[in-house]
Amino acid sequence: MKHLTSLLNLSVDDVHAILAKSHELKACWKRGERPTLLQGRYLTQVFEKPSLRTRVSFDAAMAQLGGTGNFLSGNDVGLSTGRESLADIARVISGYSDAVVLRTFSQKLIEDFASYSRCPVINGLSDDDHPCQALTDILTLQEMWGDVRGKRLVFVGDGNNVAASLAMITSMLGMKMTVCAPRDFELEESLLQAIRLECPAADVTQTVDLNVAMANADVVYTDVWASMGQESEADKRSRIFFPYQVNARLMAKAPAGCLFMHDLPARRGKEVTDDVIDGPNSIVFQQAENRMHLAKGLLVWLLCS
Ligand code: CP
Ligand code: NVA
Repeated sequence: MKHLTSLLNLSVDDVHAILAKSHELKACWKRGERPTLLQGRYLTQVFEKPSLRTRVSFDAAMAQLGGTGNFLSGNDVGLSTGRESLADIARVISGYSDAVVLRTFSQKLIEDFASYSRCPVINGLSDDDHPCQALTDILTLQEMWGDVRGKRLVFVGDGNNVAASLAMITSMLGMKMTVCAPRDFELEESLLQAIRLECPAADVTQTVDLNVAMANADVVYTDVWASMGQESEADKRSRIFFPYQVNARLMAKAPAGCLFMHDLPARRGKEVTDDVIDGPNSIVFQQAENRMHLAKGLLVWLLCS
C-alpha cells in the first residue's frame, strides 16, 4: 500500500507518475470530461489547522472523479486529545475510507497514523512538510516551462515546511534551489543531509544575501512569515523578515521574465506586495487551481495503480 507522508518517501519515478496523471486529468477537465475513476471511493480529511486550498481541492477532486468524502477537525475525532489511541483512530477511520488526508502540527503523527492505517495516508501539511503543495508547484512550472531540469527556484523567507518540501522536490527533479532566509530561519542542516542522501546531485544553497539570491532566479517563491501555530510570534517575525519582503524593487534584481509563486494564503503587504502577487509574472492562482488537478492525479495514483 502506498502513502504520501513525505516526498522523500517517494521515488523519482513515483513523482513523475503523479505529475503525469495530474496533467492528464487536467487535460480531461479542460475538455469538460469527468471520468468517474473514483466512483464509490470515500476520502476522509482530518485537519488540526485551518485550510482553504487543501480541503476544498481534495473535496472537489473526489466529487469530480465520482467519489465522495467527509471532513473532520482534529478535535472531532480526538486526534491529539487522548480520547483514544492514535492506533485505534487510524484503524477505525481507515476501515471506512479509501484514503485519508491529515493536516497536523506533528509530522510524526502522520507517519504513525500511516503505520496503523489500512488505506493510503496523504500529508496535507505538517509543521515539517507540505508535499501536495510542492508537487503542485512543479506541475505548474511544467506548464510554464515544459522541462524544469536546470531551472533555479529562489525561496525568499522562512525556511519552514513549504521551503523544505520545495528543497526535496527540486532536488529529486534536477532543479537548483537557493534559500534566502534571515539567520536562524534557514533550512535545517539535518534536512539538507537527508536530501543529499536521497539525491546525491542535489543543488540547494542557502544565503542571507538577497542580491546573490536573486541574480540567477528563474522563479521566486515566498510563504508567510508566521505559519499556522506561530501566530504569537507574528510581530517579532515581521520585524526580522521585513528586509526579505518580495516587492517590485526586489523582483527588479531578478532576470527579466522571472516568475513569482506563493502557496497562499498570502499576507499582502507582509511577505509580498500587491504589485508582485497581482503582477504579470505571478502564477499564484494557476498554482492554487492546480492543487485540485494534483489532488486528482495523486488520488488516482494511490488508489488505481
Ligand atoms: N496552500 C495551502 O495549503 O493552502 P491552505 O492552507 O488553504 O490549504
Ligand atoms: N507555512 C505555511 C503554509 C500554509 C499553506 C503554514 O504552515 O502555515
